[in-house]
Amino acid sequence: MHAADGVIFATPVYSMNVSALLKTFIDRLFYICHRPLFFDKKALLLSTTGALGLKGVLYYLKLIVGVWGFEVVCSVGLKNNPIQISEMKKQENNQKLEKAASAFYNSFQKKRRSPGLKDVLIFHSQRASFGDPEQSSLVDYTYWKEKGWLRSEAKYYVDIPVNPVYNAIGWMAEQVLRRNIQKELAKTQK
Ligand SMILES: Cc1cc2nc3c(=O)[nH]c(=O)nc-3n(C[C@H](O)[C@H](O)[C@H](O)COP(=O)(O)O)c2cc1C
Repeated sequence: MHAADGVIFATPVYSMNVSALLKTFIDRLFYICHRPLFFDKKALLLSTTGALGLKGVLYYLKLIVGVWGFEVVCSVGLKNNPIQISEMKKQENNQKLEKAASAFYNSFQKKRRSPGLKDVLIFHSQRASFGDPEQSSLVDYTYWKEKGWLRSEAKYYVDIPVNPVYNAIGWMAEQVLRRNIQKELAKTQK
């Protein structure tokens, strides 16, 4: 992944979730959720199902890969039950795949999109936790400090325009979270 410009994350829906293989991979890389690093890379998400579960699986994958730093360019969900699938459905699946492949390919020519409100909120809530050396691990705190993300002017992980309203909401959420964290900490120290 370090050498790639983009990564395709693919999984069948198994028991309404990602496959155990992909889940193990995600769990192994959990530390990246605290110390995100793939900001210069794009991701395409792909999932297949017999009938159900695509929405939840793609939502989960988008959340994890987004927190790792990837820009998720598109998510494709395909129903591929071999007993039920018609020729028309196969064609529809192929069209979805071709559309996603070209969006993914074209994205390498484009600059990173500005973050949405959820992305900005994740940045600020992480900063509330990892910016406090008393309650986060030293390795997370040091990473955040070295990246410059604890500076008050930092609005996001990368230098990119951030919607000022999202920034204001994120900043307020960070103050509330920080206060709550400190209250909890004070309780445990009593
Ligand atoms: C262990 C297992 C669990 C599955 N769970 C679901 C499920 O929860 N919902 C569903 O609609 N299909 C489920 N399926 C069907 C698969 O999602 C479908 O066959 C899959 O997309 C095919 O991909 P594959 O051939 O790469 O395994 C399951 C299949 C297996 C083998």
